[in-house]
Amino acid sequence: MSHESPASDRPLTTALARAAATAGHAPSVHNSQPWRWRVLPDALELRVVRDPQLAATDPEGRLLAYSCGAALHHARVALTAEGWTAVVERMPDPGDPDLLARLTGLARAEADPDALHMVQCMQVRHTDRRPVSDEPMPTAAVGQITAAVAAEGAQLQILDRDQVMELAAAAGHAATVEAEDPQQREELQYWTSRSGGTGLPPEVLPEQAPQTTVPARDFGRPGTLPVGPGHDKAAVYALLYGDEDERDSWLRAGEALSAAWLTATRLGVSVVPLSGVVEVPGTRQTLRGLLAGLGYPYLVLRLGIADPAHAGPPHTPRLAVAQVVDTSAVRGEQP
Ligand SMILES: Cc1cc2nc3c(=O)[nH]c(=O)nc-3n(C[C@H](O)[C@H](O)[C@H](O)COP(=O)(O)O)c2cc1C
Repeated sequence: MSHESPASDRPLTTALARAAATAGHAPSVHNSQPWRWRVLPDALELRVVRDPQLAATDPEGRLLAYSCGAALHHARVALTAEGWTAVVERMPDPGDPDLLARLTGLARAEADPDALHMVQCMQVRHTDRRPVSDEPMPTAAVGQITAAVAAEGAQLQILDRDQVMELAAAAGHAATVEAEDPQQREELQYWTSRSGGTGLPPEVLPEQAPQTTVPARDFGRPGTLPVGPGHDKAAVYALLYGDEDERDSWLRAGEALSAAWLTATRLGVSVVPLSGVVEVPGTRQTLRGLLAGLGYPYLVLRLGIADPAHAGPPHTPRLAVAQVVDTSAVRGEQP
């Protein structure tokens, strides 16, 4: 049994530190966890860490911003679950571009049971790179995931059959471009051979390339995850997009990614982001064509129902909370 004090009795700084710690469950490019949090007496700040090992893969910091956006959404939901409302300032200081967000104006509210359920989803959500089962995606689930994205100010376009074929060609091309770039190969090698809480261990990487229409990311080395006989015939491919292609919209795209993925987790839907097609400028342009020029592509998502008969991959490790959450400014206030 838990001996924790009820959420309503906890001081604000404890709630902020807990929300930042909970945000550590968020997905990130190559599990880089490029976020750092600072707890202040009346605010929580989010900074991006620019890892030199992503310089070739993500020169603009787009994927870093998506990842931090996902963590920001996790923290927002965790605060709501604990009974706090916050004002979110995105890119609050033009002179300090790595300060991505500040949560301020914190006020007490009723603890929100829906948000509490989402916090539980954060703890079970993970990336399952096996092919999906033949079970079709329920239409209602696609609708709820699309609505979750819209609530965060982005949009989701479900790709039709022809568009999936275009995506397949683009994903294959992006994989070739990236495999031919020695620096990108080196970066992948780095992220697939880490220990200490970041990167991708062999247990989460397929032992062989799954037989799918749209090729999954080639991590440059086989893992130990059995892929089984599945395909992606029953998968739904969706394009996350928005009206602008600026850093603050990338942050929002990450918030929308988190909202979509947590909603999908609640509905038993597996999500795998495909970011290679966005990393390569030429194939990002192809995706823009799929939107008929009406928006800017952020990320492709594969949605599907995972094989229920076999165990999926384990959870990917995380950095220790003390490595990502700085509470030094409020240490005296911690209970
Ligand atoms: C912006 C972004 C891009 C990603 N791109 C890919 C990808 O192209 N292929 C893939 O298999 N996983 C991709 N992922 C999933 C991450 O590798 C995964 O979230 C991370 O390793 C943490 O593991 P977890 O999701 O199981 O917690 C991406 C995640 C994010 C946030």
